Amino acid sequence: MTDLDSIQGDFERALAGAADERALEEIRIRFLGRNGLIAAEFSRMSEVPPEGRRARGADLNKLKGFIESKLKEAQSGRSGPAARSAAFDVTLPARSVSRGAAHPVLTTLNDICDIFGRAGFEIAGGPEAETDWYNFGALNVPADHPARDMHDTFYIADCGLRIADLNSRSAIRNPQYLLRTHTSPVQIHVMEKRRPPVRVIAPGRVYRRDDDVSHAPMFHQVEGLWVDRGVTMRDLRGLLEYFAKTLFGSSVHLRLRPSFFPFTEPSLEVDVSCVICGGESRQRASACRTCKSTGWLEILGAGMVHPNVFKSVKIDPSSVTGLAFGMGVERIAMLRYAISDIRLFYENDVRFVAQFGALG
Ligand code: DAH
Repeated sequence: MTDLDSIQGDFERALAGAADERALEEIRIRFLGRNGLIAAEFSRMSEVPPEGRRARGADLNKLKGFIESKLKEAQSGRSGPAARSAAFDVTLPARSVSRGAAHPVLTTLNDICDIFGRAGFEIAGGPEAETDWYNFGALNVPADHPARDMHDTFYIADCGLRIADLNSRSAIRNPQYLLRTHTSPVQIHVMEKRRPPVRVIAPGRVYRRDDDVSHAPMFHQVEGLWVDRGVTMRDLRGLLEYFAKTLFGSSVHLRLRPSFFPFTEPSLEVDVSCVICGGESRQRASACRTCKSTGWLEILGAGMVHPNVFKSVKIDPSSVTGLAFGMGVERIAMLRYAISDIRLFYENDVRFVAQFGALG
């Protein structure tokens, strides 16, 4: 018979020196296994005088319970939260958190809206799927205008048609809806609902059958409309000068060129001095890819609202005048950030977007 205190002492020493799970298992086998020390003591009970057996049995069970619970404790200590946090190396470099960035088209769109907002323009909107009337007819675009061509405009056949019908001749000849090719139809929606004075800008998506380095089938425009008694070309020039200098910096110059749009008379195209070479390349004939050494960049179309547009919305053209303008947001963002290919905007490459600043 062995002294139980010495077994317990052996166990405690072994446990204190156990380095890993395997060592714990070895201890378990040595003390609690079928041929282990505790089992051996039980099998030697017959050697114990009968009057002492009861107490010996109780002591053995107590020691067995003690060993079991100490082993369990040691095992869970190795795989529990405390053990896990001990395995966590605080000196390792942290995993980087990737932050989002505002898309340059969105930033530019918001800046444009802010600038006109400060000049008293409210935001207006309209549908992206329009009828021929809103996109063309009401804006004085003649029936044979090339923009109405299938090659330029996405037409949507009547929603009741099946896919097969979309390509049928009759569907093409009688298009019901189209994807708006510009934001100008919002002018019509606004003036149908509200009488002058009206001072709105309309940001939104537009669609054209175009796809190359400077044209995408979907892009963004901002439309502007200011109708009131006595609005003149001087207001137009002043407003656009304020806009261009605020967006591109006070050193830019404005150039207005006569142009043609069916919905304005007179019509203008508006240029700013090149934001990259400052117009210098024109004088020195050094190459500037952004302005192609012309010194000027076209940024928008504008003009005075055509009387026929007022008639479309039943406003008497002799009672008011209006100015209107429309610009492509991607184009302005490309000039602003010297981006050479419009398709970069739509590739969803975070490395591209991240160059334009993280969101705070
Ligand atoms: N809608 C024209 C376009 O998409 C841009 C435009 C030109 C809008 C002159 C206007 C305007 O309101 O007056 O190219």
